[in-house]
Amino acid sequence: MKTHRTPSSPAALALLLLATTLSCGPSVRGAEPARASVDARVEELLGQMTLEEKAGQLNQLSVGSLTGPARIVTNGEELVRGGRVGSLFNAVTARETNDYQKMAIDGSRLHVPILFGLDVIHGFRTVFPIPLGLSASWDPDLVERTARWAAIEASSQGIRWTFSPMVDIARDPRWGRIAEGAGEDPYLGAAFARAYVRGYQGARLDDPSSIIACAKHYVGYGAAEGGRDYNTTEISERTLRGVYLPPFHAAVDAGAGTLMSAFNSLDGVPSSANAFTLTQVLKHEWGFRGFVVSDWTSIREIMLHGIANDEATAARKSFLAGVDMDMQSNLYLPFLPDLVRSGLVPMDRLDDAVRRVLRLKVSLGLFERPYVEVPADSNPADLPESRALALRAAEESFVLLENRRVGRAPLLPLSPARGLKLALIGPMADGAEDMLGSWSGQGESRDVVTLRRALAERAKHDGMRLSFARGTDVSGHSSVGFAEAVEAARGAEVVVLALGESGKSSGEASSRSRLDLPGNQQELLEAVTGTGKPVVLVVFSGRPLALPWASEHVPAILMAWFPGLQAGPALVETLFGDSDPSGRLTVSVPRSVGQVPIYYNSLNTGRPRIDPIGLGSTKADPYYVTGYLDETSTPLYPFGHGLSYTAFSYSPVHVSTAEISAASLNAGKDSLTVSAEIRNTGTREGTETAQLYVRIRGTSVARPVKELKGFQRVRLAPGDSRRVEFKLGRDELSFWNINMEDAVEAGSLYVWVAPDCEQGQPAKVEIVQ
Ligand code: BGC
Repeated sequence: MKTHRTPSSPAALALLLLATTLSCGPSVRGAEPARASVDARVEELLGQMTLEEKAGQLNQLSVGSLTGPARIVTNGEELVRGGRVGSLFNAVTARETNDYQKMAIDGSRLHVPILFGLDVIHGFRTVFPIPLGLSASWDPDLVERTARWAAIEASSQGIRWTFSPMVDIARDPRWGRIAEGAGEDPYLGAAFARAYVRGYQGARLDDPSSIIACAKHYVGYGAAEGGRDYNTTEISERTLRGVYLPPFHAAVDAGAGTLMSAFNSLDGVPSSANAFTLTQVLKHEWGFRGFVVSDWTSIREIMLHGIANDEATAARKSFLAGVDMDMQSNLYLPFLPDLVRSGLVPMDRLDDAVRRVLRLKVSLGLFERPYVEVPADSNPADLPESRALALRAAEESFVLLENRRVGRAPLLPLSPARGLKLALIGPMADGAEDMLGSWSGQGESRDVVTLRRALAERAKHDGMRLSFARGTDVSGHSSVGFAEAVEAARGAEVVVLALGESGKSSGEASSRSRLDLPGNQQELLEAVTGTGKPVVLVVFSGRPLALPWASEHVPAILMAWFPGLQAGPALVETLFGDSDPSGRLTVSVPRSVGQVPIYYNSLNTGRPRIDPIGLGSTKADPYYVTGYLDETSTPLYPFGHGLSYTAFSYSPVHVSTAEISAASLNAGKDSLTVSAEIRNTGTREGTETAQLYVRIRGTSVARPVKELKGFQRVRLAPGDSRRVEFKLGRDELSFWNINMEDAVEAGSLYVWVAPDCEQGQPAKVEIVQ
């Protein structure tokens, strides 16, 4: 038996990382080794398989359910030995994966290796910020590097498939899984989808450190009614194609090997039995050659949805609709062979699904290298490179929401003066477990450096005086700790208040009906702020929280999400200005739950209160306009918002032409160049994210009031300026028109470059026939 040699020492792992990071530029995509030879190998195997062996390749079981209490089969190991399991997930160590692999290879007739999967969502052992936080970096290259790192760590344990990225567009912060995605925008979502795929899959799939990506949850899962997880969705085809599908399409174009079908029903058809999305769009229109795995028991769940009355029908409907692999329903293995024998499922469809699975197994090199060398017992999260990347990722994820003057200067950054009296207050200040967020994989709280620990070290180093009071618990209702907290605040010159949600209040099955601070944290906030001491509020959460009181009364607010292992050091560097906050919101922050859903790229109404970019003023009676009687319609903080410690100015936007033809845009023969000059007008070095927005009017269907179509991070020294340039071509300007064709139409195009979605002066370009 051949075993593959994976670097086992930390140093070797670091070297491998360095090499692969360097070779993994933005243009690299997961490539399959020579397609013809892969296909020949697959056909040879397929030709030898019995119906049961074929169904086996489409059967995926969680390792826990083979042996543990959640058992859905009683003979799991026997099934593995019999070639009746194509994939296992939730095995996390090399020993486990090797053991199961040996059962499959030595035990089964055709020696087909198992593909091991796992939810490696924002890191394996080295935990990075939650995906929503990572997206706030607006830095796909950074995300690619975190995904690459996660792939290296996971693959060293034999895991060659991750159920990530989650590319669901989320417009509702009540939905807990908003934490796992890249926010509300399809353009940004597509950019991050590509970055994750590149990072996980690397330059070549047969590189032992490459793991297959899985874009999930296909599709519409983020549009769950009421924000309640797993709930029904109603999405028009135009919105589906224009908003929810683009990140999936981008993942497929970047070479994603797999997709996961979702739990939700879409227009009455469960996503895990939806032939339109799974077969017509994904496999036919996009030419997807990978395979679709169901979500956990989602095939069985179509019976509860009400479109199958028995198990055989559930298996048949999902399979015919296009779900290739059954995660945990245990329906394909027992039912597919007979469904084929009875003619209810064509053999061609079975062969097609098995081919898709085998193709990836061959492409990964699993037949040549089914095993991994058991890595040394060291902790990869301890590597200096792991820490550096986790630190960088956390710093880039922070969004400075407020930074008002206290005295003559903005409160942040703090100057670490000798003798400065600091109070650190709040239940999140030392919450190591919380910093990991949801789906933190193999992350361990003992690897986390909390804000309390990092601030104490910094205070000691710089001779500052730090006091600490917890104040209350995350969901606590007792105010016993308030007095101590208020006393600590009174005795300090500056207060850092760490509040938020627990790490597990977002993620799967963790929807909330409220968007406030849990427990009595709001009261603690008011008590501490009431001391009159300057307060820096650091908010930890997996979703935007609606904090209008804080926004009005607290001078500095830093949105920290769940920053991962290096939470503390990254926050301390940011608070003291060693790092400039450069994150920008990828979701709108509402003022109250009643505003939800609230997202920046909405359609206009015939009765807007005010036109979002100052076009077409309404003649309506001001009473009869869209909105609320008791709340404004604008978010508390808009999409794209984020302050810096320095300031930037934008020149008027420049467009390369005042007129362009739709025909030449559609033919891909012409494009428009848009540029603006960004200047650092402040006194510190800083990073700005220039955002390009467009709006088009006069088209066959209404288009959003603004849409992001480009962005660029620019790092500038004080006084320096740089011109950012964007190209707008067919990909950026087309949309699903009245005939449900993706095309550029004639109309008046407005384009502008701005620091967030609420600023900027548009320039006009006529798109003529
Ligand atoms: C989740 C998926 C996840 C799967 C496997 C499901 O409950 O919805 O996102 O990948 O479990 O753990």
